[in-house]
Amino acid sequence: MSTTTTWDVARVRRDFPILATQAHGKPLVYLDNGATSQKPQSVIDAVSHYYESGNANVHRGVYALSESATAAYEGTRAKIARFLSAREDREIIYVRGTTEAINLVASSFGRLKVKAGDEILVSAMEHHSNIVPWQILAEQTGAALQVIPMNERGELKLDEYQKLLTPKARIVAVAHISNSLGTINPIKEMVKLAHAKGVPVLVDGAQGAPHVVVDVQDLDCDFYTVSGHKMFGPTGVGVLYGKAVHLEAMPPYQGGGDMIRSVTFAKTTYAPIPAKFEAGTPDIGGVVGLGAAVDYLGALDRNAAAAYEQDLLEYATKQLGTVPGLRIVGTAAHKASVISFVLDGIHAHDVGTIVDQAGVAIRTGHHCTQPVMEFFEVPATARASFAFYNTRAEVDILVEALKGVRKVFG
Ligand SMILES: Cc1ncc(COP(=O)(O)O)c(C=O)c1O
Repeated sequence: MSTTTTWDVARVRRDFPILATQAHGKPLVYLDNGATSQKPQSVIDAVSHYYESGNANVHRGVYALSESATAAYEGTRAKIARFLSAREDREIIYVRGTTEAINLVASSFGRLKVKAGDEILVSAMEHHSNIVPWQILAEQTGAALQVIPMNERGELKLDEYQKLLTPKARIVAVAHISNSLGTINPIKEMVKLAHAKGVPVLVDGAQGAPHVVVDVQDLDCDFYTVSGHKMFGPTGVGVLYGKAVHLEAMPPYQGGGDMIRSVTFAKTTYAPIPAKFEAGTPDIGGVVGLGAAVDYLGALDRNAAAAYEQDLLEYATKQLGTVPGLRIVGTAAHKASVISFVLDGIHAHDVGTIVDQAGVAIRTGHHCTQPVMEFFEVPATARASFAFYNTRAEVDILVEALKGVRKVFG
């Protein structure tokens, strides 16, 4: 594989100070990027610099500091619009992350469009944050949740999906990339099929944006959600992309300062988008950090990063196959660098706890996808999720540690 010539992983690793630290006296092997990614120095510096010398509230001050904070905040919106290839900056709404983005759409778009007897389509591999908000909406309205099924490899059944796109369907909510299986869903095709029936599509991009270049106009999705902390930015900040035509029609999600045009006790009128959806003082420092993360990603060769991650995925899949009794859960033809697995007769939590002693951080549990665990009839899995700063040597350390787990359990 020639990726080593196009992807200088040693140089990239130097950008992430935490990767040089230790756990239990061993070099940290961080393989829990699906839960949250590590942060490059430029993001850490941008956040501390903001608090050291740039902190003021946005949109309210007539003084220089507030104006520069506002410029940083709005400038980042423009950067993110370019990053996602949105048509307009005002289609970018700052939120806390994917969870809040989906709750916003379920609540606001739901109030506008969903009524008793309607149907909401989610897939069998969704994260709880792309199930529960829709269930709440269904309970409130009398609508029903319909589930797009998947096969044994963890791939959505598109023929079944098409059957679910009936005149009752009001919205499709589907993950770009599954956090527990790694499956990359055929979003463009799914959007096309839904639009042919007049049904809008929300894409949960929590695991999409960190791994692939996202072009919302090319996907033609109606909504796309991003968690900043999974794409090398700070926690507590993320993005809802929505087509302006939807966002303009939707009622506010939260009421408060900054989202109004005028308020009297008799009536309030709302600000235009994006402000209509950004009530209260936002996470300005987080937005600044997210802007630095987007700059960082923008300076990388994303295609080389993706090819490098695919190489790691192939290598890790092969090497994990050498661990006796290990079974990979999620074997889709198109996968991102996320591998869930179980070890025969050993609970995933024990696996995670033992490999931790070797400095290896992996996630264990249901990964907020209990229906996926039920489908594969496992109580939990262990999950190694790789970023472009991980290495084949780290895969080897994981594999050795797993062989050690086998020895402990005899
Ligand atoms: C596919 C997917 N959707 C949604 C979420 C929720 O993201 P957040 O906790 O950042 O809101 C996650 C987080 O793990 C995820 O992996």
